[in-house]
Amino acid sequence: MAVDVLLGLQWGDEGKGKIVDVLSAGYDLIARFQGGPNAGHTLEFDGKKFVLNTIPSGIFFENTMNLIGNGVVIDPITLKKELDKLKDAGHDLLAKGNLMIAKKAHLILPTHQLLDAASEKKMGEGKIGSTLKGIGPTYMDKTGRNGLRIGDITLPDFKERYQKLVDKHVSMLQSLYGEVADFSEREKAFFEAIELINKFKLVDSEHLVNDYLKQGKRILAEGAQGTMLDIDFGSYPFVTSSNTTTAGACTGLGIAPNKIGEVIGIFKAYCTRVGGGPFPTELNNETGEELRRIGHEFGATTGRPRRTGWIDLPALKYAIMLNGVTQMVMTKADVLSGFDKIYACTHYSYLGEKIDYMPYDICSVDAEPVLKEIDGWKEDLTGITEISQIPARLSAYITFLENELGVPVKYLSVGPDRVQTLVLN
Ligand code: GDP
Ligand code: IMO
Ligand code: MG
Repeated sequence: MAVDVLLGLQWGDEGKGKIVDVLSAGYDLIARFQGGPNAGHTLEFDGKKFVLNTIPSGIFFENTMNLIGNGVVIDPITLKKELDKLKDAGHDLLAKGNLMIAKKAHLILPTHQLLDAASEKKMGEGKIGSTLKGIGPTYMDKTGRNGLRIGDITLPDFKERYQKLVDKHVSMLQSLYGEVADFSEREKAFFEAIELINKFKLVDSEHLVNDYLKQGKRILAEGAQGTMLDIDFGSYPFVTSSNTTTAGACTGLGIAPNKIGEVIGIFKAYCTRVGGGPFPTELNNETGEELRRIGHEFGATTGRPRRTGWIDLPALKYAIMLNGVTQMVMTKADVLSGFDKIYACTHYSYLGEKIDYMPYDICSVDAEPVLKEIDGWKEDLTGITEISQIPARLSAYITFLENELGVPVKYLSVGPDRVQTLVLN
């Protein structure tokens, strides 16, 4: 048995939550492997809508277990809010026993969020556009070997460990930024949330996942963010602080590379990005506005308007190479219905040359998109349920992408609901 991985091939918000939910019934375990509450994964079914930040998207299926892996950073306050909301909606995960949390996952402290906000404020115009959830400072403490982990909450001296780290953060805030906002309310909420988290099953995710594999159980690793936000390979420094690529599933769960099975890469029929940084195919015009309006392109976590643009093939090829993608999912094809012409960026014009890769200095030198014009389709897709109902021009678009990218599109998503999904191959 092997672990399948589902991850985003663009700059996030490709529809990972929806597709993981669709696929969940076929898996025994859904495991988040990196990121934290910077993620917002939206699921819709039976007229209900849920946005998950830290919790894996497999929680709505009776026989599927869920794991928050060691590579994830957890804000107890957000996690408690998520759990409380789900409970109110009739999904009490503690009672159901379908959520496990890795002891080695790191904790986001209230002061990590203050550091995130202060750092962004100091950067001014050049800021990353962080979600301000404390992601960067928490991963910095992890790699700096100062961090607190979920397993630490069971130790008798947890409060002292917490205080030691907070004291360090407070002195950093004072010396670097000259101010420390009041966080007493958040601190109270933090410890209340810790009490709830302590009631969940805290596990060694590396042993759990490998035991599942030995027992022949099926596992899907759920990515957050997208490949172009990867800390090593994304548009640095306009990235998040974790490895969003397949390699991140190995370190974020404790699985060996030779245990990776299918790698399911997900992309929108166009492209979006939220926050700062390069976006070669961005449309700063009415068409971009239209994509935002029709596609409801506003952040699931922060509500910020997402930047919109045409599909970017050099970026997708790069993402497919880095991840070893074996099959793809195309989402939001319905959003393009009614556009007379759509466009795909096949190359960049970069320093007078035509290139088909993402250059190192993409953040400082313009890469102008070279666009191919494609005939659009008029038909509304949101009610289609059969392959035979796919408009010819959409089929041609999919075939074009498959030929360019060399990987089959296995699923086509034509609306936010679970049922608005077609299996193509
Ligand atoms: P994620 O972060 O990758 O899970 O994606 P988000 O949930 O942040 O953003 C995707 C948005 O598109 C959500 O509002 C989904 O409900 C919605 N969505 C997903 N697939 C489709 C689709 O095929 N068509 C449309 N119109 N919306 C979709
Ligand atoms: P999902 O899982 C889109 C972006 C932020 C910012 C940069 C760094 O829903 O696809 P951070 O808070 O990580 O320090 O922000 O990364 N970002 C996302 N953009 N979708 C996400 O997650 C994102 N998570 C972080 O906007 O530009
Ligand atoms: Mg999202």
